[in-house]
Amino acid sequence: MNLVVVSNRVARGKPNEPMTGGLAAALLPVVEKTGAIWVGSSGRVRDGNLKEPFAEVEALGAGALAMLDLPAAHYGGYYEGFANSALWPALHSRADLIRASQEDYASYRAVNAFMARALLRFRKPDCAFWIQDYHFLALGAELRDLGVRCPIGFFLHTPWPARAVIGGVPNHRELIEAMLAYDLIGFQTEEDCENFLGYARCDLGLAVHDGFITSQFGRTRAAVFPIGIDPERFAQQATKAMTHPDVSRLRRSLNGEKLAIGVDRLDYSKGLINRIKAFDRMWTVQPNLKRSVSLLQIATPSRGAIEAYGNLQSELAKLVTDVNGVHGEVDWTPIRYLNKGFSQAVLAGLYRTAQVGVVTPLQDGMNLVAKEYVAAQNPADPGVLVLSKFAGAANELDAALLVNPHDIDGMARTIATALAMPQAERQMRWEAMMAKLRTGTIQQWFADFIEALQDAQHSGDSMLPEPPTLWPRRAGDLAARYH
Ligand code: UDP
Ligand code: G6P
Repeated sequence: MNLVVVSNRVARGKPNEPMTGGLAAALLPVVEKTGAIWVGSSGRVRDGNLKEPFAEVEALGAGALAMLDLPAAHYGGYYEGFANSALWPALHSRADLIRASQEDYASYRAVNAFMARALLRFRKPDCAFWIQDYHFLALGAELRDLGVRCPIGFFLHTPWPARAVIGGVPNHRELIEAMLAYDLIGFQTEEDCENFLGYARCDLGLAVHDGFITSQFGRTRAAVFPIGIDPERFAQQATKAMTHPDVSRLRRSLNGEKLAIGVDRLDYSKGLINRIKAFDRMWTVQPNLKRSVSLLQIATPSRGAIEAYGNLQSELAKLVTDVNGVHGEVDWTPIRYLNKGFSQAVLAGLYRTAQVGVVTPLQDGMNLVAKEYVAAQNPADPGVLVLSKFAGAANELDAALLVNPHDIDGMARTIATALAMPQAERQMRWEAMMAKLRTGTIQQWFADFIEALQDAQHSGDSMLPEPPTLWPRRAGDLAARYH
């Protein structure tokens, strides 16, 4: 099968560059190893003749990366507008933050249509498209309109909310009907999948049976494919990273003090405000923990042009300053707060240095940081994961200390419990979590989805004449090659 993976954000593939978000981090090793072509946004925009999309193509391991300049007139309405100010808040159950205009929706649809036209260039015999995430809900329908008949799958990296919440998105019905052009729709959790099927059944009035929805497009299967990481590779990276200068400097600076770590994009879904408040509460209630544990919070800037993100950045910076002001000493800073990104090669060592990993989103599709923290630990002396029960990862990592991110007191107590946990219990919990990570790897996720896509397709290959292609290679049976 010649697989074309499509997402808005792509990884440029440079080993020492920080990655932006879980989608790019997860897809990079898959594309590198399977020989798929990965098509996404170059991050640049372009005016002019949009009928001939401009793509820059480079090798990426056994695969290739094609980066498209998106139409300048529609980029803002698509990315900052409909995708990240209407869909993202709704998908994370923040209906109060939905901001959308009909112009934004029109731009979103225009970029989906533009991407569909651009993809024709990458079509080959025995081809399949695998579309990623909420930026391209309507891309499958646009491809079908252009005559594409090959299998088209879609995977949502975020949660899918309850019917009432998705109903707050303008044009939700039209968009979700368009999603039924996909042969297969993958979700992170059972709950997400059930919410989606519930909408199809109750709001669209469609027949739903055993995860299959019957619509004017034929049959669409909705199923669960929890995304994973490569735990062995991450563990090796973590061991190696312990001598990296940033990690060495961090360890020297601790002077025997314990460390808790948080690594998140600066996003309101990540629960950063409540997390900082929980540390504040912990140091207030248990002053003996002052000087004995500090927090390293990496908050990578994200989507800064959107008002809700700008507001969060200011609120968080003020809160951290206040907490440091109250609890700090002349020679002790409670929270080390960094607004920048790190490569995974360094992050792995930072995770391994920390006795506690705090991953407390209010809502999260999966949360790969939680899985990476576990994989990076020293098996002889592992740290403890404090994990929100509202992260998709909590379904698998139930041996973590699960918390309610709205309960500040509860989180404060749980972080203190994590710090005091005896070694034998830490090892038992870590082994249980590692066993889950070794079963649900990123390789398995890929193989399971591709196999299901091959089974689920509506009809045979397109009989249309082949368009010119930029991708001369044939990848063989991708699912089999990965094993
Ligand atoms: N990440 C990174 N450098 C950073 C911060 C994060 O490479 O400075 C990576 C991290 O290793 C993880 C991903 O970005 O693989 C974040 O994924 P997650 O699912 O936790 O959250 P998302 O940002 O996708 O919402
Ligand atoms: C989440 C989304 C991804 C997105 C990433 C980073 O993981 O599910 O689709 O790429 O955040 O966000 P950004 O807007 O920088 O691409």
